Amino acid sequence: MLKLSGLGKRYPTGDRALTNIELTLPKGQVMALIGPSGAGKSTLIRCVNRLVEPTEGSVTLEGVELTRLSGQKLRQARRSMGMIFQEYALVDRLTVMENVLSGQLGYVGFWRSFLRRYPQSAVVEAFRLLERVGLPHALDKRADALSGGQRQRVGIARALLQSPKLLLVDEPTASLDPKTSRQIMRLIRELCAERELAAIINIHDVALAQQFADRIVGLRAGEIVFDGPPGELTSDILTTIYGEEDWDTTPEPEDNSVDERDDPTPPTPMARVAAGGAR
Ligand SMILES: Nc1ncnc2c1ncn2[C@@H]1O[C@H](COP(=O)(O)OP(=O)(O)O)[C@@H](O)[C@H]1O
Ligand SMILES: [Mg+2]
Repeated sequence: MLKLSGLGKRYPTGDRALTNIELTLPKGQVMALIGPSGAGKSTLIRCVNRLVEPTEGSVTLEGVELTRLSGQKLRQARRSMGMIFQEYALVDRLTVMENVLSGQLGYVGFWRSFLRRYPQSAVVEAFRLLERVGLPHALDKRADALSGGQRQRVGIARALLQSPKLLLVDEPTASLDPKTSRQIMRLIRELCAERELAAIINIHDVALAQQFADRIVGLRAGEIVFDGPPGELTSDILTTIYGEEDWDTTPEPEDNSVDERDDPTPPTPMARVAAGGAR
């Protein structure tokens, strides 16, 4: 459903962020994009919805080449892509409901949205989504009164309000604690399954990527250096992606208890490394 072909980006500053990216994402697939800071993860997902203009190559979503679109057609195409950022990307002084409805911007136009006049159908859908993400009682709370995990649930509901086909998710757990991070990743994963949504999730936490993604793509200095199922991500490959020292893991909770809704962690290379103590 999504195809990146020869995709490249050189920023006007001369920084080359991406080189010759070839990637095809089938319907419903949840892909984690991992790599060290500066590898080009954010640039890649922003090239997909053209928040960043690629300098080479093409992006095709369901047969439509996005890289050729402009104006109204581009806005229309963007609606089929929901974007989720770090949890602080909400408007603090607006309520939960208003933040979710702002996902309608593309549909109702800026002024209508600015005046906070939304179609009834959008309000009904927003209610439904807030219930689904576990926030049915927080509608009228101001966004700044929520916890980090709750804020991210609002961000997820907002992204889903446009009924996208593709989710673009940039470091959704970067400022959350490990347990909340797992809950948020699980929610994204479940919603993708329910709605047959494909997703690209930028995440620097390798263990989380392995636990919740169907596929892992490793980016290093703007190039794909790994593309495969989570089980194939060996510690050698992690060293290729992250270099010798600084690949990352989720610390175990201190009391070692696992909340009962947690998925069993598969015996990943990370877990084996942790268990064996070998690096
Ligand atoms: N707006 C920008 N202007 C110039 N260079 C940028 C800009 N955004 C990112 N870069 C550069 O592009 C490279 C990739 O950055 P980024 O996509 O943010 O990586 P990541 O999300 O993996 O940390 C880095 O070298 C970064 O400095
Ligand atoms: Mg980034």
